[in-house]
Amino acid sequence: MIKIDISQIQKFIPQSAIKTLEPEVTDAIRKLENGSGAGNDFIGWMDLASKTEKGLLDAIEETARILRDNCEVVIVAGIGGSYLGSRAVIEALSNSFVQSVRDGKNPQILFAGHNISEDYLYELTEYIKDKKFGIINISKSGTTTETALAFRLLKKQCEDQRGKETARKVIVAITDARRGAARVCADKEGYRSFIIPDNVGGRFSVLTPVGLLPIAVAGYDIRQLVKGAADMEGQTTSTVRLEDNPAAMYAAARNALYRGGKKIEILVNFQPKLHYLSEWWKQLYGESEGKDGKGIFPASVDFSTDLHSMGQWIQEGERTIFETVISVDKVQHSVLVPADDENLDGLNFLAGKHVDEVNKMAELGTQLAHVDGGVPNIRITVPQLNEYWIGQLIYMFEKGCGISGYVLGVNPFNQPGVEAYKKNMFALLGKPGYEEESKKILSRIKK
Ligand code: PA5
Repeated sequence: MIKIDISQIQKFIPQSAIKTLEPEVTDAIRKLENGSGAGNDFIGWMDLASKTEKGLLDAIEETARILRDNCEVVIVAGIGGSYLGSRAVIEALSNSFVQSVRDGKNPQILFAGHNISEDYLYELTEYIKDKKFGIINISKSGTTTETALAFRLLKKQCEDQRGKETARKVIVAITDARRGAARVCADKEGYRSFIIPDNVGGRFSVLTPVGLLPIAVAGYDIRQLVKGAADMEGQTTSTVRLEDNPAAMYAAARNALYRGGKKIEILVNFQPKLHYLSEWWKQLYGESEGKDGKGIFPASVDFSTDLHSMGQWIQEGERTIFETVISVDKVQHSVLVPADDENLDGLNFLAGKHVDEVNKMAELGTQLAHVDGGVPNIRITVPQLNEYWIGQLIYMFEKGCGISGYVLGVNPFNQPGVEAYKKNMFALLGKPGYEEESKKILSRIKK
């Protein structure tokens, strides 16, 4: 099972801190359960996994089959919650060098619509110009500029390259049931489409078609992913004792540290495949908690790689940080350190050992060094990187986020701050409807 160890934070918080937080944590879980907290119209993710209908999974798998049969490359167009979840799961499960080599039949999954870089889009369109490609266009609002811009280019290229008829078959929309340009376009063009439920926000949407379709196209078992999440649902209800509830324990631990002045949480992995899981986690916690002048700043590092860059800061910089380490118990493959007669590199003391044993000692050595250096350490152990355990981890973090946001005293399900840059960008670009803002912003930058 997924285990959470908070023993290495104890010396940094008052002895009673976790006990003191217990009623607040329980109250937060109850609010999530009975829908009486702030943002309660966006808590559909709470029981999404256990309520996922077989018919929906069948339909997702059927659409995935069509894309797999007809595409060498599938491009997921989306930003924020509309791409990070699927990217996190696909990268965590994929071969580091050859994506989805399991049966040699999986299309390559690429991502677009999460930046506005002309070079990125040029290079992508060049890369796919001789390939049979399809598109999954994902946008809950259906109006996000980054995604809409990439989709406009890719749709045209797909129609030009593959013909309108085939394009219609290999373009899929995942969007709101009624509103937004992506819905209008899907209905007009007759694309296959899936709905993002009204009561699930972008960053909590990985277990809806938003995440499930790209993951299924990549060749992974979405039923196991959903099962893992559903099982974690059962382990994190208000009836489970705090010490047996990993989401509640995680929320309590990080809030205890925050109240003690630890303002930055660094999510640490020792497996490079988890890089995008951290990116997903940063959005989840950053957008949910960073508001009203409050919130832990979520950062991330990949170890041991970043021990050679950020390691110095973490060991000896300002003591306002704590670490949460995702530790993977069992690796998938076996590589032993070979013996070498000359031993020029002096590594014969490791001969015959698994590389993972070296990695685990790096992990333990780092934990001890960082705790000695004043960095509290929460450790989350995941048995293995497969669909089931990743499903559990995703739900644990989602639930931990909802609990944590309520304990912090914010609405974890809105993101009003995300609009500020968009308003300025539209005013600067002269978008119709932004005439007044345009005048104001142009006179401001002229000064
Ligand atoms: O969490 C969120 O709601 C946001 O980060 C969105 O996921 C992101 O802005 C993309 O929005 P949309 O899916 O509407 O294009």
